[in-house]
Amino acid sequence: MGLESVPSSKTKPFLNVFDHKIVSPPPAWLMRQAGRYLPEYREIRAKASSFLDFCYTPKLAAEATLQPITRFGFSAAILFSDILVVPDALGQKVSFESGEGPRLDPLVTEQDIAKLSGINLQKLEPVFETIDRVKSALPEETALIGFCGAPWTVASYMVAGKGTPDQGPARLFAYRQQGLFQKLIDLLVSASIDYLAAQIKAGVEAIQIFDSWAGVLPPHEFELWCLKPVKAIIEGVRAQYPEIRIIAFPRGAGSHLPAFATICGADAIGLDTPVDPKWAAKEIDQKIVLQGNLDPLALVAGGKALESSTRNILEAFAGRPHIFNLGHGILPETPLEHVEHLLKILRSEG
Ligand code: CP3
Repeated sequence: MGLESVPSSKTKPFLNVFDHKIVSPPPAWLMRQAGRYLPEYREIRAKASSFLDFCYTPKLAAEATLQPITRFGFSAAILFSDILVVPDALGQKVSFESGEGPRLDPLVTEQDIAKLSGINLQKLEPVFETIDRVKSALPEETALIGFCGAPWTVASYMVAGKGTPDQGPARLFAYRQQGLFQKLIDLLVSASIDYLAAQIKAGVEAIQIFDSWAGVLPPHEFELWCLKPVKAIIEGVRAQYPEIRIIAFPRGAGSHLPAFATICGADAIGLDTPVDPKWAAKEIDQKIVLQGNLDPLALVAGGKALESSTRNILEAFAGRPHIFNLGHGILPETPLEHVEHLLKILRSEG
């Protein structure tokens, strides 16, 4: 089959997977692994006046990035930042209200969009400094992942000005003013390419593109607003960095996944919780690495539920390169012992 099996002690197991190697146990990291479930995160979070200040303070952001590595020893660290620093660097007002999530000045009119600038990478300099600090402190077997939000997901917050249950405001905007919405998406595509290229230049070894709201789009809109922009970002980044490892996470893409995976050009696809791993392992191009997809609630529950859910996933992906992860971000109420238990299961079963 041309697939080599390598012990995961060699260099960086996370990166080995991308060379079509089956790494056993599979490399593991968890989406949102730096965050409120960690007491040490809550402690340093309290030192910053706002969440954005926290993201833009390299000393604190680097510490937050490293905390889950120090405590658990995951195979990869993910840069501590947020997808909404991009609208901030485009000149839209962004803030985070504690307990309520993000708040932005919503984009309503053509002028609101015309007012946005190109991406101000100077403003994002603290992010690149964070990457530099993390790189010099990470254990040599741990990879560093950078990220951005996909244009559809970022645009949906920019239009609504906040989180909504189904991104109705952006969907309506895109139907009513398709040309104008396309302009916003194009702006986000080029901003994301520049931002990711700068992260790679600063030292990240892989990137993940989060399309957390892909699942609310009907087929035609999925192609226009999710698939095409993600593909354009991947092409733009690869034109500058052909070797960079790219993970796309189109949450909720469901039956679109096999076509999405083949067309978008990513090396790996992040699978969300409801995707049947056996189906994905069979239907998605064998050349593509699959990442996922434990239910974050199984990790909250722990015990037998955690054990059997984890084993099902390992079994389904045995035989193809796999990165173990959750199907969405870790929940703040997750007990630390359950994360330890998960890693024990992976290390003994993988
Ligand atoms: O550990 C990591 O994964 C790295 C850091 C990271 C954060 N946000 C930190 C964060 C990453 C990769 C993100 C991505 C992100 N941000 C997404 C895509 C992934 C997903 O979860 O679907 C989205 C949609 C956002 C936007 C966002 N940021 C929302 C909706 C919220 C509020 C909801 C919440 O969880 O509080 C945030 C705030 C945020 N981003 C927090 C963290 C740790 C919590 C704020 C705090 O600690 O005060």
